[in-house]
Amino acid sequence: MVEISTSILSVEEENSIKTFYNLETAKTDYFHIDVMDGKFVKNNTSNLMLKYAENIKQISNLPLDVHLMVKDVDNFIEQYIPLMPSFITVHYEVFENKEDLLKVINKIKQNGIKCGLSIKPNTKIEEIYEYLPYIHMCLIMTVEPGKGGQKLIPETIEKIDKLKKYITQNNIDIYIEADGGINLDTIEDLKQAGIDIAVVGNAIIKSDNFKNTIENLKK
Ligand code: DX5
Ligand code: ZN
Repeated sequence: MVEISTSILSVEEENSIKTFYNLETAKTDYFHIDVMDGKFVKNNTSNLMLKYAENIKQISNLPLDVHLMVKDVDNFIEQYIPLMPSFITVHYEVFENKEDLLKVINKIKQNGIKCGLSIKPNTKIEEIYEYLPYIHMCLIMTVEPGKGGQKLIPETIEKIDKLKKYITQNNIDIYIEADGGINLDTIEDLKQAGIDIAVVGNAIIKSDNFKNTIENLKK
């Protein structure tokens, strides 16, 4: 059964608290926090996402799945440690060398938080194989990071397929999460390819019944 991590990127600010309550009652498995710094990606959502994450922590015990689309990784990890998210995910493309990436992975884990590593659509899956033993989750972007409401890029599905085969053959225990353009149609291929967690934004937030949509996505 796939788990759903609802992206709150597109939640309207004026009724955000009500929306978070409704998502909790609708049984989302995670809240996906899309942190953008305006440097790694064009948009800057950092203040709003931190505010949303703090609000969610006050009203819900559901886990936070923090997706850092940022260059200054250390600064943003410091910002989120106090909220004790379940996952903090960083982008492979941010790091100049293996040592820097391993240092950040350790920093996240030493704070009792599960570490995710994300790759953009054009990054080859083989580039991160060497990090898989050190992380808890691999976040495969199925759209270019930077905004919600985009169309899923079909070529990214075979990367998930390849990753699933590799971790099965090598007995690596890791979550596979897909993110971007996921809805009731596109999720089927992703389930086939072997994802554990689907990040869904607009397909849930813009739907008229969060509970039904989440139930149908999980089926
Ligand atoms: C894009 C974000 C995704 C996005 C998902 O940079 O990482 O989480 O908000 O939203 P939808 O499901 O609308 O593509
Ligand atoms: Zn995301």
